[in-house]
Amino acid sequence: MELYIDTANIDEIRQAAALGVLDGVTTNPSLVAKEGVDFRTRLEEICAVVAGPVSAEVVSTEHDGMIAEADELIPIAENIVIKLPCIEEGVKACKTLSDRGVRVNMTLCFQPLQAMMAAKAGAFLISPFIGRIDDVGGDGMELIQQIRQIYDNYGFDTKILAASIRHPQHMVQSALLGADVATVPFKVIQQVLKHPLTDTGLEKFLADWKKTGASIRKTPAMA
Ligand code: G3P
Repeated sequence: MELYIDTANIDEIRQAAALGVLDGVTTNPSLVAKEGVDFRTRLEEICAVVAGPVSAEVVSTEHDGMIAEADELIPIAENIVIKLPCIEEGVKACKTLSDRGVRVNMTLCFQPLQAMMAAKAGAFLISPFIGRIDDVGGDGMELIQQIRQIYDNYGFDTKILAASIRHPQHMVQSALLGADVATVPFKVIQQVLKHPLTDTGLEKFLADWKKTGASIRKTPAMA
């Protein structure tokens, strides 16, 4: 499963990129607003750090406005992916942009037929918001499973990007169900590599090694 970071915070993006396993970035208007920075400048900064897909969302809600905004965002960098909402106008704009060879991420997906329409319109990514479905008593994972099944039934190559991830179990379940990508907040990326048994196990290994008085590095006499 590919790993994207879901943030517009450049420090978090730099730290995640330094792990060497980051495949892309997703932003949205709320994440950008939290940073209080110029959107275009921040996108330039992000694209200089991450070579993989960087999703930038439009704020227009009708086709022509979406295309006009996309046309402003596309030249920022080759890896910009245009993010559009899963509404009628968004599907139309997705088809227009996909036909032009522009990669589109269809966002705010809450039911499987939105995902099917996005795929038919040529979307590069579909973003089911699993955490927000769980928040209102639904089952976000069921949506991932349904989309996987529909895409496999008909050979759609749109990638399933599990979004609105709240904790590592969302990532585990997404991977088990065959989501192609998970976009994950920095806090959760950090949690993924934490386990108390890893910490105590490492502590014990290091303590035992110290008792041997040995060194893995060659001493000057051996070199
Ligand atoms: O970027 C889209 C999505 O991941 C938002 O997540 O936590 O605001 O539901 P959240």
